[in-house]
Amino acid sequence: MVTVAAADPPVDPAELLTLARDVVARAAELVTAARADALGQVSTKSTPTDPVTAADRAAERFVVDAILAARPADGVLGEEGAERPGTSGVRWVLDPIDGTVNFLYGIPAYAVSLAAEVDGVTVAGVVRNVVTGEEWSATRGGGAYRGETRLRGSACTRLDRALVGTGFGYDADRRRQQARVLAEVLPVVRDIRRIGSAALDLCGAAEGRLDAYYERGLSPWDLAAGELVAAEAGLLVTGLRGRPPGEAMTVAAPPALHAPLHELLVALDADEAG
Ligand code: IPD
Ligand code: CA
Repeated sequence: MVTVAAADPPVDPAELLTLARDVVARAAELVTAARADALGQVSTKSTPTDPVTAADRAAERFVVDAILAARPADGVLGEEGAERPGTSGVRWVLDPIDGTVNFLYGIPAYAVSLAAEVDGVTVAGVVRNVVTGEEWSATRGGGAYRGETRLRGSACTRLDRALVGTGFGYDADRRRQQARVLAEVLPVVRDIRRIGSAALDLCGAAEGRLDAYYERGLSPWDLAAGELVAAEAGLLVTGLRGRPPGEAMTVAAPPALHAPLHELLVALDADEAG
């Protein structure tokens, strides 16, 4: 058993993953069952185009309750407001529905994303597409999988042949800046995909459905599980200029593609302003 000693008592990432997979599968069922009612109970958050539904809130409550029932001393951070420090050294980072706009429109690309950190380092993560039931998971040092299939990312080595995923924030100024960057990226790649769920983008890049992915503006819950899946598939997952991935910029790509994509995004100051 690989244990992480920083937690008190030491924990096995595989055990955290088993719990995460079980809870996420049940949360995905709840999201599906809650959809019809949730469509009539939509409110907005950061901007009028940033939606939250009763299903986001119910799924977050469900996951937090299920995790704390199993591990009462753990901490939690969730997109819809769950925040609890915990005392065990383990913290769970949750996006109850990543891709809420797709959820609203019935586009089958929305996911439950759940990661477990030990002393701030993600050691286990699972992302489950609610509609298709596809599930991506990883433990630190244990590889990334979709179901039982080990993931190794794309073999593409040329940016001009790369299918690149990205996404946009909800704020108009942020989008203006993202559009400026996109206008320079689009002519030099195979094509762009805006799937609408950062967690699914990162897992798609881990699997090679996308050759690479970049986005400015991700929150910890968008990133936590998908980042580990992508990294464990062999991708480099970074910010720009030596920074870690995060709000300013996240670039996920196999090493051969990461270098030219990173260089392009640096030249465009893609992590600045807006
Ligand atoms: C959003 C999605 C989207 C990304 C945005 C996120 P939400 O999360 O991941 O793909 O472009 O940056 O905010 O609001 O659907 O949980
Ligand atoms: Ca969300």
